[in-house]
Amino acid sequence: MRFAVLTGGGDSSGINDFLYFLAQRLEREGHSLIGFRRSWLGLVNNDALELTRQELAQYRFTPGTILGTERKNPIKDGQMDQVLRSLEDRGVDVLIAMGGDDTLGVANHLSELGFTVVGVAQTIDDDVLGTDRTLGYYTAIYQGVRAVNSMVNSNVAHDRDMIVEIMGRDAGWLALGVALNTPACACMCPEGEMTLDELIARMQEYRRINGRAALAIVAEGIKLEGVERELERDAFGNLAYEGVSHIVGDLYKKATGRSPRVQVMGYLLRGGTPLPQDVELAAFYANHAVDLALSGQTGRLAGLQNGKPSAVPLTEVVGRKKLIDLADLRAKLKLLA
Ligand code: F6P
Repeated sequence: MRFAVLTGGGDSSGINDFLYFLAQRLEREGHSLIGFRRSWLGLVNNDALELTRQELAQYRFTPGTILGTERKNPIKDGQMDQVLRSLEDRGVDVLIAMGGDDTLGVANHLSELGFTVVGVAQTIDDDVLGTDRTLGYYTAIYQGVRAVNSMVNSNVAHDRDMIVEIMGRDAGWLALGVALNTPACACMCPEGEMTLDELIARMQEYRRINGRAALAIVAEGIKLEGVERELERDAFGNLAYEGVSHIVGDLYKKATGRSPRVQVMGYLLRGGTPLPQDVELAAFYANHAVDLALSGQTGRLAGLQNGKPSAVPLTEVVGRKKLIDLADLRAKLKLLA
């Protein structure tokens, strides 16, 4: 059979290993693999390349995606016919679509049009339903923890409070994960449970009790009451929230008279050598996606639930998000420094 793969949405570390494992498995079993460049844009433009195990071996353990990525929405742009034409032209039998909710949403639509599609969840946000872990999350947490812990001493030395912004549009998994693994005393997540007033109060209290600078983590998707921002939208209608920590910093200064150091982690979270956990997950997802495709299970997410392979229909996965349970979040916030 002829397989095709695309990588969409925000990238993370582990994708290139996934591509390698996919090619390795398919070659061993006599199938072929092509990769469409820059996600759905490659399918619209019929832009693809042959992927071989040998070629992909040199990109193992590197972050990013050799296929490139793009927030292209062919449904909104009325280009699904072009997508189908490219697949037909290239003689593709199965498409493996890797990414977050937006990428999987288009994959689901393609499956509803009758094409054989298998989805794989990849995003540093770990907010995709139908699987316990998205590819790239482990490495992103590690990147964030390492970066924050390397800055803390300097901030303490200067006695300057610090506010660090971590990616996460809808879910606070990354922000909370980084907060728990650093001396952060407060963390605001998009799910809620901590207001700005509470964050400021926690930082003040930390300073008073410990006599040193306080660290707080904020997810980029937090809502700030009474603050209006003009934000851009991408092709899927997602708002670009980056920079909210500067507003938090200004409000912190207004409330306390002290100017905090503000640091936006941004793409740093997507980089770094993939951790063994992500490489193993990449291997699992590559095998599971091929198993689903070869057994004719289309329109499903090749997932991992409770340690076992799962195959939740994409229709049940897309348009929703896996968020932190509020009781769990509340309990964990109490464990911060
Ligand atoms: O990868 C997902 C994500 O990290 C979100 O948390 C974030 O809002 C978004 O990507 C930002 O992506 P970009 O700035 O590349 O559009």
